[in-house]
Amino acid sequence: MPPTGPRIVKPTPSALARAGALIRASRLVAFPTETVYGLGADATSAAAVAAVYAAKARARSNPLIVHVPGASAARRLVAFDARARALARTFWPGPLTLVLKRRPDAPIPDLVSAGLDTLAVRVPDHPVALALLRRAGRPLAAPSANRSGHVSPTTAAHVARSLGRRVALILDGGPCRIGVESSVVDLCGPQAALLRPGGIPREAIEAVIGRLSRPRSKAHRPRSPGQRPSHYAPRLELRLATRRPRAGEAYLAFGKVPAGARPRAMLNLSPAGDLAEAAANLFAMLRDLDHPRFTAIAVAPIPAHGLGLAINDRLERAAAPRRR
Ligand code: TXA
Ligand code: MG
Repeated sequence: MPPTGPRIVKPTPSALARAGALIRASRLVAFPTETVYGLGADATSAAAVAAVYAAKARARSNPLIVHVPGASAARRLVAFDARARALARTFWPGPLTLVLKRRPDAPIPDLVSAGLDTLAVRVPDHPVALALLRRAGRPLAAPSANRSGHVSPTTAAHVARSLGRRVALILDGGPCRIGVESSVVDLCGPQAALLRPGGIPREAIEAVIGRLSRPRSKAHRPRSPGQRPSHYAPRLELRLATRRPRAGEAYLAFGKVPAGARPRAMLNLSPAGDLAEAAANLFAMLRDLDHPRFTAIAVAPIPAHGLGLAINDRLERAAAPRRR
């Protein structure tokens, strides 16, 4: 490791103690979750939270998720209702983020929620994330540990490449199990809304609290400012729902590869056609194929159910027109 690079460390007890101390000193620590790596900061420190926005070059209008070690810690920050209780009981710890009204006594600076009167909270299902939360003794504001607009990191090396020395320490928990970010559910109104499809399939959430609306109206957009069209973007252009890659293109396949497809390079999200496996491979494979020797990345059609909803959402944003 070059001496100027960020420190990637195994999550030994002494590394976790050091990480906890860094968080309490308002420094930034990247850590693994079951979804993607997070860029963690003390959610009660405005200075630490400001450093997160700076490290990511993230718009301050895009609020952060507050990570807590359990539902009782969440209930000290936001007002739970029956739907929140049912979802927390069913899916926490796990890849579900709940947007709820913040409690007036929540010790969380406005910057975390970009001035909204709501907070997004989640309990991550990863032993290293939970150990860090306990060691730090603070809720952690943690966006995905990548520069804003780029592909989310699913390994410690991805974090190091994206953020470099902007992060004090990277806890290495190996590759993330789920590979796409948490599902974000807004429970502030009478109608629950899926702000971002993610690691818990929409069908599973609806089985607990009934129908979710998918916000499309402009009126809803400011509620989830992170959901801009271009996001999760590699450098190369993406061509979606493609069965026949063109000469010069790299191919991101799913399931059986069409006979006669002769891409310059190919990776398969899941040869068996398994959506969970595909989600776990998505971001790392997009990074691997993002090389200037290809003209574009052609991507196979992905079914739109289960985790396929989150995969297609990320692919559509990665393919969206952008300003570079
Ligand atoms: O799986 C995940 O959720 C990962 C890991 C690290 O936990 N985190 C993550 O954070 O994906 P980030 O910052 O990349 O995405 C947070 C999303 C954004 O779309 C943001 O707009 C939305 O959550 N969000 C956060 N607070 C919100 C709020 N108060 N109201 C509405 N949306 C909110
Ligand atoms: Mg992100």
